[in-house]
Amino acid sequence: MNTLTQSPVWQALTKQRQQLEHMSIAGLFEQDPQRAEKYTLSAAGITLDFSKHHINDPTVSLLTQLAQSRGVPAAINAMFSGEKLNNTENRQVLHVALRGDCKHLPEQRAVVRSALQKMADFVNQIHSGHWRGATGERITDVVNIGIGGSDLGPKMVCRALTPYQAPTLSTHFVSNVDGADLSETLKHLNPANTLFVVASKTFTTAETLTNARSAQAWLNGNLNDAGATAQHFVAVTSAIDTACEFGIRRDNIFPMWDWVGGRYSLWSAIGLPIALACGMMNFERLLAGAARMDQHFSDTAPERNLPVIMALLGVWYSNFWGAQSHAILPYDHYLGEFTKYIQQLDMESNGKRVNRRGDVVEHSTGPVIWGEVGTNGQHSFHQLLHQGSHRVPVDFIVSLASHHPLADHHSQLFANCLSQSRALMLGKSFEQAQAEFEQMGFNADVARTLAPHKMMPGNRPSSTLLFEKLSPDTLGALIALYEHKVFVQSVIWDINAFDQWGVELGKQLCNEIHPALTGASASPFDGSTNALVARYQAHHHT
Ligand code: F6P
Repeated sequence: MNTLTQSPVWQALTKQRQQLEHMSIAGLFEQDPQRAEKYTLSAAGITLDFSKHHINDPTVSLLTQLAQSRGVPAAINAMFSGEKLNNTENRQVLHVALRGDCKHLPEQRAVVRSALQKMADFVNQIHSGHWRGATGERITDVVNIGIGGSDLGPKMVCRALTPYQAPTLSTHFVSNVDGADLSETLKHLNPANTLFVVASKTFTTAETLTNARSAQAWLNGNLNDAGATAQHFVAVTSAIDTACEFGIRRDNIFPMWDWVGGRYSLWSAIGLPIALACGMMNFERLLAGAARMDQHFSDTAPERNLPVIMALLGVWYSNFWGAQSHAILPYDHYLGEFTKYIQQLDMESNGKRVNRRGDVVEHSTGPVIWGEVGTNGQHSFHQLLHQGSHRVPVDFIVSLASHHPLADHHSQLFANCLSQSRALMLGKSFEQAQAEFEQMGFNADVARTLAPHKMMPGNRPSSTLLFEKLSPDTLGALIALYEHKVFVQSVIWDINAFDQWGVELGKQLCNEIHPALTGASASPFDGSTNALVARYQAHHHT
């Protein structure tokens, strides 16, 4: 079999890029008045306008051929059928079973249904006030202690669904082993009213266990009750015995399974803070929205399939246009944590350099994902997007309607979003820039000297994702869209998107360096590390 980069379709795409290089995106609109309509797709309440890209019909056709030739439809089927796609850990990849019917996966559906029932009962007990803390008071604050996938998903969704939250319960998230995170959070809380959710699939993650132990000490110390853990701690984990050893009651442990990856887990009991904050009904709407996107993904041909098209556009820019990063810019205050969430999803999944058999790949893989909400980013890094030397494809995300009554704000927000994608595409010519300086009163010579600084090359690609309102259903669909995009890219690049061995070395080294800092072991490291350890010791042990 040809390697990916030697395949005929890859070669044809390389030629396509050469042809399109000299055509502007704006020019493509002039050539084809139907372009916007043709390159807009909708599914599960999400509309994707991908017309402002360096593509034409032959490009789309070649890209979808690439998807076919790399076996994307078969891989989608394999995931939904429960094949062990995570080959390095010998695991199935079944986050879709957390939210869909998956009739052919009765075993998973049965355990998921029972976990959802346990969550519903618990949420009901907290909301109704039946669950009381050790001193008999109601729970008013929930602190999720977790990191990575056990933090970013529930934190992002809780913020996104702020308008759906019950005013009687506040949620807080502690992830960093930096004690400032926990102590700043606890400063404002009353232990008698606080519930901790220790979220850790493995229950071995050092940051989470350190924070959980300190939280437990704070609780027991302040309530003067060594047994308070029973009423104030629950856990979400697949390591039930380990959580019990920590002191959490077996009844208070919600399950996780090895067929759900951490960064794909917000749909499981890892989403407990979401259900507590927004109610079980809204949590189920989130699942239902994702399930609608799953159905679209599994049933739709590549050329009409939103996640597949988004994945192919990413491949197009990463592999054929040399883009090394991808910006995600939600024009939505409530999506303030969204880019950070997608960063883990994408970069922990596709930040790999060997294929599924362990051979080093000869093409680039997952890009650097970055971004911030609009309009804030416009007054910061958009300068680089418009005039910098990097090629950065952008996803703009925006809703038609807002949750707040300030109609004028939303129209301004929406106008800013459209202005940015249009400015990236059109740019500003040298002549326009010069004329603007002349209108400002500069003479022609000075205006010509200044014009290069104001001109903008334009021809910079972007997609716009649009939905009616940021609801639980829409959010579920939006997250699932990105999950599937990342998966499709991994299939095209032939990498395993579901392991994360690259994070292990740092953990191992930390286990060696920490005892050296505290003086419990010697410091047999490299010269730089030894010197830094010595400085720490000099500061703390003199
Ligand atoms: O270190 C990376 C990672 O394994 C992520 O993949 C995961 O989401 C996070 O740590 C937390 O893991 P756990 O839920 O087991 O504490």
